[in-house]
Amino acid sequence: MLKRKDMLGLYETDAEEICEILDTADKMREFLDGKNKKSDLLAGKSLITLFYENSTRTRTSFELAGKYLGANEVNISAAASSVQKGETLIDTGETLDSMKIDFIAIRHPMAGAPRLLAEHVKASVLNGGDGMNEHPTQALLDMLTVRRKFGKIKGLKIAILGDIKHSRVAKSNLFGLKKLGAEVWMYSPETLMPKAIEKLGAKVAKSREEAIEGADAVMGLRIQLERQHGGLFPSLSEYSKFYGVKDELLKYAKKDAVILHPGPVNRGVELTPTLIDGKSSEILEQVTCGVAVRMALLKLLSEYREANL
Ligand code: CP
Repeated sequence: MLKRKDMLGLYETDAEEICEILDTADKMREFLDGKNKKSDLLAGKSLITLFYENSTRTRTSFELAGKYLGANEVNISAAASSVQKGETLIDTGETLDSMKIDFIAIRHPMAGAPRLLAEHVKASVLNGGDGMNEHPTQALLDMLTVRRKFGKIKGLKIAILGDIKHSRVAKSNLFGLKKLGAEVWMYSPETLMPKAIEKLGAKVAKSREEAIEGADAVMGLRIQLERQHGGLFPSLSEYSKFYGVKDELLKYAKKDAVILHPGPVNRGVELTPTLIDGKSSEILEQVTCGVAVRMALLKLLSEYREANL
């Protein structure tokens, strides 16, 4: 049983809870391979997706997760909502809560917005990415992908290369992977590496080769131009040349290493197209695992609500 009403981040989620989510998601992943993707596990429950930033994977997979489990599902895009008329996040949340909903999946550009919402609504809040803070469901789906490939997470070396500073994915992965006993190495231009990341448990590599040496999984991260104000690296082509993951670098990784990317990917910048589409790539499997993880979280949070609220 989860110990919380909301899923806000992996910093506060313990190893036992993460394992329970992954075990449940494993079963959901098998369910997704079946012919009939319909269950009544969440019949009579309602999920709202409330996204203040663009999304393809996260929003769609929350919607599908709810639908596959039989919940009612409504999508609200901030651009078409009363947010445009000046309504606050809390007023929006309390309005939705009054409609007797059970879950809100939110993405917001401000770090901490999902927590603020969670403190003001009865519904369970699921963080679909908040600013540069956390993206817990992305990290959980990354962990599920890796665990299904290798049968474990403990003892693995995971290399994360790219825009670490602006990445909520990198932080949630660091918290989750460390709790399950993986070693997390990071590499980026100095200007894109948070100064205190080692205090959070990451190992900072001096080169791409050092990051990838002996790695079981190599994750490229998107350059988040929308969160940068320029001047952090000279140009995309130079970024790609000096910091991108190239085919020839894979020789430093373990033979059966996998390539990961949370998407959306800038082809040829963070990863070469041959790595993205190659036999080591698990990028599309990550997307499928994303639906499974969100199904698992809806199920487990629903059980928490039945028992505690
Ligand atoms: N990985 C991820 O969050 O993708 P979207 O922005 O498409 O949701």
